[in-house]
Amino acid sequence: MPAAACDPLLILGGGLIGLSVAHQLARRGRAVTVLSRRRSEAAGFVAAGMLAPHAEGLSGPLLALGQASLGRIPAWVAQIEADSGLRCGLRACGIVVPFRSAAERDTYPTAAVGEALDRTRLEAEVPGIGPDFRAGLLFAQDGQIDNRRQLMRALERACVERGVAFEEGAEVLELLTDDPVPGATGRSHLRGVRLRGADGEERRLGCEQAVLACGAWSADLLPALPVHPVKGQMLSLQGPRQALQRVVFGPGTYLVPREDGLVVVGATSEAEAGFADGLTPRGQRQLEDNLAALLPAAAGWPPMERWWGFRPGTPDQSPLLGASPIEGLWLATGHYRNGVLLAAITAELLVPLLLGQNLPASARELLAAFRWDRPLPPPAASHPAAE
Ligand code: GLY
Repeated sequence: MPAAACDPLLILGGGLIGLSVAHQLARRGRAVTVLSRRRSEAAGFVAAGMLAPHAEGLSGPLLALGQASLGRIPAWVAQIEADSGLRCGLRACGIVVPFRSAAERDTYPTAAVGEALDRTRLEAEVPGIGPDFRAGLLFAQDGQIDNRRQLMRALERACVERGVAFEEGAEVLELLTDDPVPGATGRSHLRGVRLRGADGEERRLGCEQAVLACGAWSADLLPALPVHPVKGQMLSLQGPRQALQRVVFGPGTYLVPREDGLVVVGATSEAEAGFADGLTPRGQRQLEDNLAALLPAAAGWPPMERWWGFRPGTPDQSPLLGASPIEGLWLATGHYRNGVLLAAITAELLVPLLLGQNLPASARELLAAFRWDRPLPPPAASHPAAE
């Protein structure tokens, strides 16, 4: 069956990364169609929304990428809010990382760019912090965005207002390519996708260009990609309004207070779970025990919701951005713990490539570290910060 002609650029994946790229392309007048399998499984609806390159202790090129994105987020959010007429819930609230000792604090990878807190200052920043924590770092430059209740909705609306087309319930089953060009790059060319629509019918959709933004499911379409699921379980509590002003990034658990007192509590980090759905007693107990140690009073706050999702993990915990092994297919995946933080810079870096424009040298340099075929360490079982 020949593939039907298709001018729009396809975005494979309707999560935060896919929508961010779609929105910026549409703002530049490019016709875009987003193929989205199941809106609810997008990591953008699951994450806590921390903007935490410093608090999460990133280093090297990933820290540089995170800092570049953090700096762009206010302008990016302003565009989304202007296009959608909806607020995104961005809060420059700062993040506190508590430690059991000053020595532990002073060896933290990003200690040099945080404000060192002793116990008294830590208690002032996080009233009610557990007695085990004797020191802290305040990263006033970090913050949060209400991804679950505000950002995703605003971004979807902004895309629609800018003319992005959506096909919901469309599962991409296969990438269609032609044979490698002899003597040229040796890469095959993208010719389209085979998909199953919401009506259950399979069909082919032709395209010359697409962005693979399928998060944890990316290797299903392109097995060469080193992306694997890292499950995270979360819960939320209704705290008293203003009880917490700062995000608290504790060992194994973090607390993200929204403006109305809702506190998002994250997250387990379970690489061994694969794509196993559902909450587990062990995971929920881990969150509750860590929460009780971090902020004892919060253990008595009314629980609101519990949920889980799958981070797109990579062996070096960094994303895969830019060209892929298939000409015409571009990568925006593998954002692991930092999808919300990195959405703005991902779109900024990808869009000129997709429009065939030259990237400034600084952008080329940022991207170079995130090629899909860079040398990678063997996969780590889980992230130490959440064990
Ligand atoms: N960035 C927090 C998490 O992935 O749990």
